[in-house]
Amino acid sequence: MLQKLHELKEKALQALEMVSDSDELDGWRVGHLGRKSELNSILRNVGQLIPEERPAVGRLANQVKLALEVAYDDKAEALKRQELERALREQRSDVTLPGRPVSVGRLHLSTQTLREIYAIFGAMGFQVYESPDVETDELNFGLLNMPPHHPARDMWDTFWISDEVLLRTHTSPGQIRVMRERYPEPIRVILPGKCYRYEQITARSEHQFYQVEGLAVGHAITMTDLIGTLSEFARRFYGPDRRIRIRGSYFPFTEPSIEADMDCILCGGEGCRVCRYSGWLEVCGAGMVHPVVLRNGGYDPDEWSGFAFGFGVERPAMVKYSIDDIRLFYGNDLRFLRQF
Ligand code: DAH
Repeated sequence: MLQKLHELKEKALQALEMVSDSDELDGWRVGHLGRKSELNSILRNVGQLIPEERPAVGRLANQVKLALEVAYDDKAEALKRQELERALREQRSDVTLPGRPVSVGRLHLSTQTLREIYAIFGAMGFQVYESPDVETDELNFGLLNMPPHHPARDMWDTFWISDEVLLRTHTSPGQIRVMRERYPEPIRVILPGKCYRYEQITARSEHQFYQVEGLAVGHAITMTDLIGTLSEFARRFYGPDRRIRIRGSYFPFTEPSIEADMDCILCGGEGCRVCRYSGWLEVCGAGMVHPVVLRNGGYDPDEWSGFAFGFGVERPAMVKYSIDDIRLFYGNDLRFLRQF
């Protein structure tokens, strides 16, 4: 019986060498290791042998079985590798085919403009301070010196989330946040971000837009510092020959309040459609921080003073790049966006 097992193993291994594909390999497994194979029947019948033969036959039969299983696995592995190599040979890739173009994104014009603004104010020592788009009525209006029912609230109609919570209409509430966080340090920050207004959408106005707010608080800050900062910004953003004009204005959170205009970049001050034949373009609202606002931020107006300003981001980009419709910024039309 032992002799027979040795022969059986030799025969099986020889047969395995002749196997050349996976179908033949399956056949080999059924024939030599399967339920009806000779080896299996020997294993099944070990119990019927005379007791002296049983251990040796049982051990050898199991060894043969294991050897055949290992040989089967090796063969299967080798066949798989061969098949893969053949497949690779037969379906060789053509590396001379042109590649598929990778589409590269770019920064949105608003982002590019914002970054340019950060760089200019950064060079003048202003940090960037971000504050939330969703604000409370108190921060958006109340603490900026516009108590409930103040008529100035009518300038900023917005989207309400609840009776007290709204989408901010301007970046000015960030002034209160930064003051409360920084007191008693002097402050020099710009506050960029999205603002929202319940507005008719036209070529000149959107219901969402970016603003950049500026705030400086210190011990001897004056209107001259404000005008110097704005003039410098205009020259760096639009070109060295730009001039600034200051008009008196009104904002509840500044006293005195001003508006700054710049000579029209398109007609050089002669008068054109863009500047509505005035020769001047509006740059921003600004002023000296109102004592009430300073106090709401935690700064004593008898010791501290400050200036603030706020302007839109799309408008300056429109002037700079001759874009005549603000809706293009939010239209997601790649033909427009790819130009910048
Ligand atoms: N918050 C104003 C607006 O949205 C802009 C503004 C005006 C901001 C004067 C200021 C300021 O900080 O001093 O129209």
